[in-house]
Amino acid sequence: MMMANIKLMSNQLANMIAAGEVVEQPQHVIKELVENAMDAKAKHITIDVKDEGLSLIRVEDDGIGMSEEDLPLSIQRHATSKVFNIEDLQSIQTLGFRGEALAAIASVSKLKIFSKSKETSGKVMEVDSGEIKSIHDYAMNQGTIVEITQLFFNTPARFKFMKSSFQQQKYIRQLFMEMALSRPTISFQLIENDKIYKQTSGSGDTLLLIEELFGKQYATVTQKVTTQIAHTKMELFLGSPDINVSTKSYMHTFVNQRYVKHYGIQESILSGYDGRLMTKRYPFVLCYITIDPQRIDINIHPQKLHVKLTNESVLAYHIRETVANHLNSTIRPLVRPMQIKDDQYSSQTLEFEENLDIYESNEVKQTKIPTMYYIGMLGGTYGIFQNHEGLFLVDAHAAQERVRYEYYQDKFDIKNVTQIQRIVAFPWTLDNEMIEDAMKQTSLLKSFQFDVSKEGIHAHPQLIKEVDLNHAVEIILNDQTLSMSQFKDQLSKDMSCKGSIKANQRISQHEFEHLIASLNACDEPYHCPHGRPTIIQVTYQDIEKMFKRIV
Ligand SMILES: Nc1ncnc2c1ncn2[C@@H]1O[C@H](COP(=O)(O)OP(=O)(O)OP(=O)(O)O)[C@@H](O)[C@H]1O
Ligand SMILES: [Mg+2]
Repeated sequence: MMMANIKLMSNQLANMIAAGEVVEQPQHVIKELVENAMDAKAKHITIDVKDEGLSLIRVEDDGIGMSEEDLPLSIQRHATSKVFNIEDLQSIQTLGFRGEALAAIASVSKLKIFSKSKETSGKVMEVDSGEIKSIHDYAMNQGTIVEITQLFFNTPARFKFMKSSFQQQKYIRQLFMEMALSRPTISFQLIENDKIYKQTSGSGDTLLLIEELFGKQYATVTQKVTTQIAHTKMELFLGSPDINVSTKSYMHTFVNQRYVKHYGIQESILSGYDGRLMTKRYPFVLCYITIDPQRIDINIHPQKLHVKLTNESVLAYHIRETVANHLNSTIRPLVRPMQIKDDQYSSQTLEFEENLDIYESNEVKQTKIPTMYYIGMLGGTYGIFQNHEGLFLVDAHAAQERVRYEYYQDKFDIKNVTQIQRIVAFPWTLDNEMIEDAMKQTSLLKSFQFDVSKEGIHAHPQLIKEVDLNHAVEIILNDQTLSMSQFKDQLSKDMSCKGSIKANQRISQHEFEHLIASLNACDEPYHCPHGRPTIIQVTYQDIEKMFKRIV
C-alpha cells in the first residue's frame, strides 16, 4: 500500500510561513504591535527600539489590556477579539481583524507580553518560537507591553536578507510618522537606542502635530480644508506649493484612521496642484478620509496597506476640485505680473521681480520660429497666433521657462560667481531632518559656495535668489554625488520654472510678441526644460479635416 505524501503541517510551521507575509522586516512587527495598541484604545503609546529592532522591539500602551484567559489566546492563529462573523468583516472598525499578527510574530522571535485589564491583575507571559514557556503575576498599570528580543533568531535566511541598518532606521522612522499622523489624539513616542527620536502630545490638533513631527516651518504654511460628498468626509491639510520635495513621501492618506497607500487619491491631490509645482516636485499633504466601513475593502493586502473604496473615481474627482479650488483662492502667484514700461513703443523690455534683464541681449540671431501674427489669448495661458500655414498655440509658461532656463544656463557659472556673506543668516525652511543632514554635509555645501549653520544660511552664491536658497541646498543634499554642472542644470530648471508666468496670469499682446522673439533666440525653442512643448501648430489641412472639407 502506498503511503500518503501529503501531511498537515504543524501549527508552528504554518505560523512561520504566514509570518513571511505579515512580518518580513522589523518595521512590520512594530506596525502590528502599534495597531494592536491603537485598537486597545490606548492614549499613550511608546515604541522602544534597539539596533533597528533586531535586539529589541518594545511597544507599551495604556489601553484596555488583556485578562489572564486572553493572554495565551492572543498568540493563537485566527484568534481575535475584533471580528466574529462575516458581517463584522464587512464593516471593520478596528485596524486588526485577522487574528494572525501576534501568532506570526511569536513564531519567529522570543517575546514577553505583559498585560493587565481593568478587572484582572497583571500577568506576564513568556513565549519562545510560538511556544508558551510560562505565565506569572506581574504588578503593573492597566495596559499592555509587548517586548520582543531576538527577532528572526530562528529564521536565519530572513535575518540575512535584512536591509542595512541605516535603511531600517529610515523605515522605522517613516512608520512612526505615519502612525502618529493617523491618530492626532494619541500621544506617541519613539525611542531609538535609549534616545527619544520624536514624540507627539496627542492634543488632537493636527496642525500642532505637524509642527511636532516636521517643524514649525511646515505647520505655518499648511492649511486645513474640509469637504464632504454624500456620507464621506474629507479633511485635507494642504501645504503651500512653495514647500515641496523631490519624493512623494510627504503625501499621506488615511482612511478611517488607517494609514494607506492609495495611488488614485494621491494622483487626484497632485492634479489639484497641477501647474503649481515643477515636474518631479511634490507637496506636503495629509488627507484624512472618513467613510462608511461597509464601503471599503481592507482585506486585499497582507500588511493592510492598500484599500479599495466604492466610487473611487467620484471621490478622486471631488478631491481634485477641492484642492484646486482651495489653491486658486488662497495662494498668491510667485512673481508679480509682468509689466510693460510706460512708453511701449520705445521699449518692450519686460520687468521681473528680480530685475533680470533677460531679454536685453536677445537679438534675433536666426529665425527658427515661423513669422506669425497674434490673434488673442485663450484661457489666460495660451497665445493664439496665425500665418499662412495655419494656427499656432503657444504655452506662455513653457515658453518663458525655456527663455529663462537658457538665460540661467548662460550666466550661472558657479565657480566664478561671487559669494555673498550675510550679516544675519537666511532662515531655513527645510524640515528638521534635512537641516540635520545639512549640518553633516557642511564641506560638501561649501564646495557649492554655501556656508550654513543650524541658524540658517550665512553665505551663498550671489546669483541665487533668497527664495531659492533653501531649495538649492536641498538639491545638493538630495543627490550628494551631484556634479557642478548637474547642480547648475537642476537649479536653472527649477529657477526658470519658478520665475515664469503662471497659468491664468494675463499678459498683453506686446508681451507675448516679445516672448516669441526671445524664444526665437533660444537654442531649443520648441520645448521647455522639462520637455513639454512650447508651441503647437494646427495646419490648415488639419483644420479642414476637422470640418470634413477634406478627408
Ligand atoms: N496591545 C494590546 N492590548 C489589548 N489586547 C491586545 C493587544 N495586542 C493584542 N491584543 C489581543 O490579542 C488579539 C490578537 O492580536 P493579533 O494582532 O494577533 O490579531 P488582531 O489584531 O485581532 O488581527 P490582525 O492579525 O489583523 O492584527 C487581539 O484580537 C486582541 O484581543
Ligand atoms: Mg493585530
